[in-house]
Amino acid sequence: MPNAVLGPARSFRVLGALAGAALLVALGLLWLLGSALRGAPAPQPTITILVWHWPFATQPPELSSDTCARYGVVRCRLTTDRSLLASADAVVFHHRELQSRRARLPLAQRPRGQPWVWASMESPSHTRGLGRLRGIFNWVLSYRRDSDIFVPYGCLEPREGTAPPLPAKSGVAVWVVSNFQRRQRRAQLYQQLAPHLPVDVFGRASRQPLCADCLLPTVAQYLFYLSFENSQHRDYITEKFWQNALAAGTLPVVLGPPRATYEAFAPPDAFVHVDDFGSARELAAFLTSMNESHYRRYFAWRERLQVRLIGDWRERFCAICTRYPHLPRGQVYQDLEGWFQA
Ligand SMILES: *[C@@H]1O[C@H](CO)[C@@H](O)[C@H](O)[C@H]1NC(C)=O
Repeated sequence: MPNAVLGPARSFRVLGALAGAALLVALGLLWLLGSALRGAPAPQPTITILVWHWPFATQPPELSSDTCARYGVVRCRLTTDRSLLASADAVVFHHRELQSRRARLPLAQRPRGQPWVWASMESPSHTRGLGRLRGIFNWVLSYRRDSDIFVPYGCLEPREGTAPPLPAKSGVAVWVVSNFQRRQRRAQLYQQLAPHLPVDVFGRASRQPLCADCLLPTVAQYLFYLSFENSQHRDYITEKFWQNALAAGTLPVVLGPPRATYEAFAPPDAFVHVDDFGSARELAAFLTSMNESHYRRYFAWRERLQVRLIGDWRERFCAICTRYPHLPRGQVYQDLEGWFQA
């Protein structure tokens, strides 16, 4: 039996070959594991957001492929091409066009499970027709902090470089108003303040409208900017505060949500809140008696912070992509009106 004679030597060779194979397999597995850990993560797919109506415009702005990248949001494509309804990752509807054009929603063509976003930066007082929108939208994009996609009108961020000097002042208080309605709280407060405080009024409601480029240089010459929101609602703080006052370099006297809300967005000593005073007369007395060092303290934040305006709808819509991986799936706003009025 040749095998019996050759037996032991052959067995060693077989064992050796087996051990070698096992070692190779183990090394191979280690290599695979190592490369999986070292290697680049699987590429994320690009998210396509279909904007059904461009807000306040018949013609959308140019949307190039790097539109969102310019706002620091990658792998995000905005489109207004409605033929992409079947494949879009989310569709966003701006409320004003739904309200005024009585537009029909493409409900029959909606792919099952496609997230729809309801978008509005207006306050509940200027929003109609929400009752018809029950059980349709999955996510909300608005200035409300509890929105799925929260987009304020502006924010403060760390300053780059040194703060520019405060603009030279030649007037006391300024109010810019395009839609003056006596029943609005801001109109009543103005009427009460005017006998005690020199207020210059500009805007469509006055006989002194301001051109778009004149607004900021004009208001910057005043010590105080009456940052009176058209209506008082939860978190409703608009560009009046961010742009016309803080960015322009004039001290905002705010009428809007409570002080605590403003303090969630800006330092407590960056504004004067009308609710801190028992009457318009007291508020006027406080403003007119302020000396320069006291006034300058309200601008201390400018040394370390700067205003970032978030006014462009492209940037607002790109924010959907930023939030997209974290947004709740399967959520539906059954009572959008109830949510928004709350
Ligand atoms: C300026 O006003 C502040 C606050 O009312 C007061 O404490 C301070 O003494 C005043 N400074 C001068 C120079 O009057």
